[in-house]
Amino acid sequence: MLAFNPQQFRQQFPFFQQQPDWIYLDNAATTHKPQPVLDAISHFYQAANSNVHRGAHRLSQQATVLFEQARADIAQCINARQPTEVIFCSGSTAALNQIAFGLMHGYLKAGDRILLSALEHHANIVPWQLHCQRHGVIIDVIPLTKEHHLDQQAYQQLLTLKPKLVSLTQVSNVLGHITPLPQMLQQAKAVGALTVVDGAQGIVHLGADVQQLDCDFYVFSGHKCYGPTGIGILYGKQAALEQLTPLLGGGEMIAEVSFSHTSFNQLPFRLEAGTPPIAGAIGLASALKFIQSYNKNNIILHKQDLLNEFYQGLKKIPGLDILSSPVHNAGIVSLNVQAEHPSDVASLLDQQYVAVRGGKHCAMPFFDQLALPGAVRFSFAPYNTSADVASSLQALKQAVEILTA
Ligand SMILES: Cc1ncc(COP(=O)(O)O)c(C=O)c1O
Repeated sequence: MLAFNPQQFRQQFPFFQQQPDWIYLDNAATTHKPQPVLDAISHFYQAANSNVHRGAHRLSQQATVLFEQARADIAQCINARQPTEVIFCSGSTAALNQIAFGLMHGYLKAGDRILLSALEHHANIVPWQLHCQRHGVIIDVIPLTKEHHLDQQAYQQLLTLKPKLVSLTQVSNVLGHITPLPQMLQQAKAVGALTVVDGAQGIVHLGADVQQLDCDFYVFSGHKCYGPTGIGILYGKQAALEQLTPLLGGGEMIAEVSFSHTSFNQLPFRLEAGTPPIAGAIGLASALKFIQSYNKNNIILHKQDLLNEFYQGLKKIPGLDILSSPVHNAGIVSLNVQAEHPSDVASLLDQQYVAVRGGKHCAMPFFDQLALPGAVRFSFAPYNTSADVASSLQALKQAVEILTA
């Protein structure tokens, strides 16, 4: 395993050599891609491009080997029991839609309750709403404390209503707050609920050991953990995946088709309709192996150092309303500049080559609760440096001076 050296790590990402002016602090939206991931994708297209599973020719067999090896590597990286528990899809949103759709045709029935949290991304709200309303399933929501952490007392109360499913984010995409999943998942299981973890933000910071978490489903997107766009993972325990009705039909997901009946293939193919994202799968496997080649704890410490430096600097800028707490934080700080619109602040930062995001971050219920138009979000990755922190603070100070002059 490589010792973590931030400069050496950063050098693996060609973006920073091509675009040296940018201070990239929009990592919660998407991360840059290291050379090994670019090489793996390019190698597939240059040397083995072919469709998988169906071809009689050797190129197709070679592509199938690369694709299935990617599945096995990803299964190993997240500690799945077997590769068949790893389903390829286009991202966290697609995975959550598949779970919500798939459980409404058997597992969830009218009058059942499910439990989400007030910190969820729309991708972990809307798919449930789409089906719950139609099927008479009730959605309850875990509220927040005044420090914007999940209210554990309220959670205990809501669990007494015996939800059949609890679906939680591992890390808040707005605040960076880390959900205390081990205890919350255990409590959900104690009342017999199926558990879903939205790992879109968590995978890159905390990683996923799905056997240790012992969740029924875990989803994430490749592009937020140094992999390509258009690829994501729906992990499920075999028994949980078997409960899902396929959302999409066609291609490799069938066993037999006639006009009167279709029988489905076995897992994982049953939930992978059409030509799968082959290059994406290969790129994602390479990204996860890249992460795992570094010491996770050293990466977490480096990000915590950046966060501490950033918070220290924020103290010197007057008029800020900081929403994120620096503890149990995966490297995201959301804030506002007095009553200024977050988009105006983000635009002024953009003019100084600081890439952040301003808005509601696909978490409208959270901002509606606070009666805020959104926030400016600074999200850090291990390739960020103390120099990035200093430059972004300087740019923010300047933006505040312009807006409040
Ligand atoms: C917590 C969380 N869940 C789900 C998603 C959706 O991910 P994707 O757009 O890659 O499907 C995001 C994206 O920002 C996210 O932050």
